[in-house]
Amino acid sequence: MRELHAGPPAVREIGDYVFGGGGKRLRPALLLVVSRMLSYGGDRDVRYGAVIEMIHTATLIHDDIIDHAQVRRGRPTANNRWGNQLTVLLGDWLYARSIDLALEADDVAVMKILSKATVGMIEGEILGQATCHRADVTREQYLEIVGHKTGELFAAACSIPALFEPEYSRFLKPLADYGYNLGVCFQIVDDVLDITGSQQRLGKPVLSDLREGKITLPFILAWPHLDEAQRRLVEDVLTRGEMSTTSPDELRALLERHNVIEEAVASAAAYGRLAEVALAELPQGLERDALAGAPGFLLQRDT
Ligand code: IPE
Ligand code: IPE
Ligand code: MG
Ligand code: MG
Repeated sequence: MRELHAGPPAVREIGDYVFGGGGKRLRPALLLVVSRMLSYGGDRDVRYGAVIEMIHTATLIHDDIIDHAQVRRGRPTANNRWGNQLTVLLGDWLYARSIDLALEADDVAVMKILSKATVGMIEGEILGQATCHRADVTREQYLEIVGHKTGELFAAACSIPALFEPEYSRFLKPLADYGYNLGVCFQIVDDVLDITGSQQRLGKPVLSDLREGKITLPFILAWPHLDEAQRRLVEDVLTRGEMSTTSPDELRALLERHNVIEEAVASAAAYGRLAEVALAELPQGLERDALAGAPGFLLQRDT
């Protein structure tokens, strides 16, 4: 927040609005818990936690422009309120300021992780654009997009603390593996909730992904089982961006018939187990237990 207030008035206003909308602060929370698990006593965890949340927020701001999203976290999106021009610039400003803030700690190794994750995330969004409005996306393509757009930033959040002291370096790889797999688990659950959740809990309309042209895992798994007419219903939403020939209930019934929601959740759970396994060599204690419980928590969430 202090960072925002150092910016021009528009940054202050839109920034206050966006950060005031809440958000789960999941990535900085992970970074702080990992730091504690490693018994780190300094204050770099707080700095990099803020940096990661700024990068995440910048991505969501740009993502909502790309997706033409009108509502997030139960409120109008920034692009809805201030228009695309100013909102793109706020996203840019946040990315650039996050770099400044990170650079003040003067650690090239952390900068490398941050820039790699940011590039990966943007490449995930670019890949997502290439498959937008298309129904012929494979499970492998979907998982590649999810790995880039969500897995990589989670991996960065979880592995950065391993660079705080030289003796933590052996934890770098397992922490990155933990974060990556947890991120993929999280995104699959997010995509399932987009279908099974309620507008009130989600803070945005149900089936937003499909309306935005993005086919997600449950629909990808259902695809081979659908007949021509059923496929056309899904394709209509993907290409037109609205539900004129079908309804959320009809689409949900279609998915339920083939048990693909369960299948997608099982796939998320499998990534959750990979995350848990990656923790085996990390210091035991309350923090490791909390991290091990995170996939279960994410799989239970409804918001
Ligand atoms: C939203 O992330 C984008 C995805 C990776 C699904 P979060 O669900 O962590 O967003 P906030 O910050 O809590 O709103
Ligand atoms: C958000 O992805 C952006 C990134 C994770 C990079 P989504 O488009 O899936 O997230 P929501 O549904 O808008 O929150
Ligand atoms: Mg989106
Ligand atoms: Mg989503």
